[in-house]
Amino acid sequence: MKYKKYFRKTSLKQKGHGDFFLSEIEKETPKFFLEVGVFHGVTARNVCELLHEIHKDDFKYIGLDLFEETEETKKEIIPNTKFNNPLKQMYFKYIKKQNPYSLDAVKDLLKKFEKNVHLIKGNSNLILKKIDMTKIDYVFLDGGHDYDTVKNDLINCIDVIHKNGTILCDDYNLGSAPGVKKAIDEYINLNKFNCEIICDGRFAKIQYK
Ligand SMILES: C[S@@+](CC[C@H](N)C(=O)[O-])C[C@H]1O[C@@H](n2cnc3c(N)ncnc32)[C@H](O)[C@@H]1O
Repeated sequence: MKYKKYFRKTSLKQKGHGDFFLSEIEKETPKFFLEVGVFHGVTARNVCELLHEIHKDDFKYIGLDLFEETEETKKEIIPNTKFNNPLKQMYFKYIKKQNPYSLDAVKDLLKKFEKNVHLIKGNSNLILKKIDMTKIDYVFLDGGHDYDTVKNDLINCIDVIHKNGTILCDDYNLGSAPGVKKAIDEYINLNKFNCEIICDGRFAKIQYK
């Protein structure tokens, strides 16, 4: 399946990276997917389209995001939520009348899958502790890029690995966010999990073995 952009912003914009990402998910055929860091919901929609193609209605997607920039989360890297393309700006302001970086706009983008989707507005440092991770078989970790947040997120997702699931971390080699690599490397060394660095160093795929 080809990764589509749905006239919005996404972190998987580099040529071929979105397709690579979808092919990774296709290999594991997860039924219960968690994305930490939904942003405009482009990856969410692509994942739902793929899981629907594989499982029909028998899948769940949970998406979690702050959906706002606050003082408390200033040290996280939040991509510029504004469009450079004036056409896109006008489309969201005058036609959709939405902020694409909002819970409502992402809900709207995913409405085709409303029975399968659960979106949460909140901080992963608090929310992940409340999710039953034993049900989840695939995590795309692309939320806060601060060292402490990545470390917490990985710790809170450990049951996924123990149940033979996968955590795919984005931005392993992102120079502007060295905390991502540091947190992942420490987690792998401490727990002796298997970690494959793939897609030109972009993703770290963590599995039990
Ligand atoms: C790189 S973007 C995600 C891009 C998205 N996964 C995609 O493929 O298009 C990172 C997102 O993480 C969110 N974020 C940052 N810190 C967070 C936190 N502590 N808890 C939840 N979400 C967070 C930001 O609001 C932002 O939307």
